[in-house]
Amino acid sequence: MRVVAVMNYKGGVGKTTVTANLGAVAASRGLRVLLIDLDPQTNLTFSFFTVDAWHNRLKDDLTIKRWYESELPGRGISLADLIVTPERAEDALVNTGGRLDLISSHLGLIDIDLELAARLGGTTTLDGSKRKFLDLHNCLRGALEDDRFADYDLVLIDCAPNFGLVTKTAIVASEKILVPAKADYLSTLGLDYLDGNCKVLVQQFNDYVNHKRDAGDYRPIDPGFLGVVFTMVQIYSQQVVLAQHAYIEEVRLNSRVPVLESKIRNSPRHFGDAGEGGVPAMLAAAGKDEVVSEFDQLVDEVLSELSLSGDRQ
Ligand SMILES: Nc1ncnc2c1ncn2[C@@H]1O[C@H](COP(=O)(O)OP(=O)(O)OP(=O)(O)O)[C@@H](O)[C@H]1O
Ligand SMILES: [Mg+2]
Repeated sequence: MRVVAVMNYKGGVGKTTVTANLGAVAASRGLRVLLIDLDPQTNLTFSFFTVDAWHNRLKDDLTIKRWYESELPGRGISLADLIVTPERAEDALVNTGGRLDLISSHLGLIDIDLELAARLGGTTTLDGSKRKFLDLHNCLRGALEDDRFADYDLVLIDCAPNFGLVTKTAIVASEKILVPAKADYLSTLGLDYLDGNCKVLVQQFNDYVNHKRDAGDYRPIDPGFLGVVFTMVQIYSQQVVLAQHAYIEEVRLNSRVPVLESKIRNSPRHFGDAGEGGVPAMLAAAGKDEVVSEFDQLVDEVLSELSLSGDRQ
């Protein structure tokens, strides 16, 4: 099982679209994929379930909010019990041998970050607070060690555009981080900052694991960047427009975060409805066009970086 967090502080850069379509295409190649929606906006969930279906079937019992809300996430309620299979995507994957499951988010997850942060306080001893830090930050990683997740080839975690505690639990749980970004000033500005914040988190976590006398079963973490995938790229006459090309080269040459070869062009025709049909655009697409090829290339690149192979259908 390979776990990848899809994140960027910047909102609206294509994180959810990449997560849904990457997961769907990987599943169409025969892989068993689990998507986890950690964003209170719940966009990933709503790209598979209608709002009515979410209200009627998921909202009360089957969302990640319920899990983060428990005394210590992972105690009392099992993460694996929250797995659901979106039916419309399942139908689209018939005969592929793959599967696509989801752990749904909840609009109320927005309050959880503050609650979790409050729970970090409250101990007076240094050892006690280190233990709390490790317990909380490691919660998602620990939960994914449940046998019921062992069957998945790939777990993709769609993060909110922030660096709150819930996002941090995703980083601790992941071995790789995929960073969708637009090729513009504001989207590329934060990349080194993101790298810096990840390093601080990793260092603090590992220091606590190494120095705490009672670190329990905790092991050090070493999440690396899969890289930046540029999305919504403007193509003109088969070329990336000049201004965007300049931003992409700037990041490639000067950022500490590596840049993937694959890019996804701006295509409102494919991604305009944000998945309201319940089947990610790349799975619903009738034939092979440039955008489908670009996503295929992204999946090739990501699977190869993760040493996963999928049978191309
Ligand atoms: N390649 C693309 N071409 C055209 N539109 C796109 C593309 N990728 C995403 N979009 C659209 O851009 C909007 C933002 O995309 P998305 O929701 O995936 O971003 P996000 O980074 O997850 O946002 P947030 O930070 O709010 O979670 C959506 O309306 C989506 O349909
Ligand atoms: Mg999103």
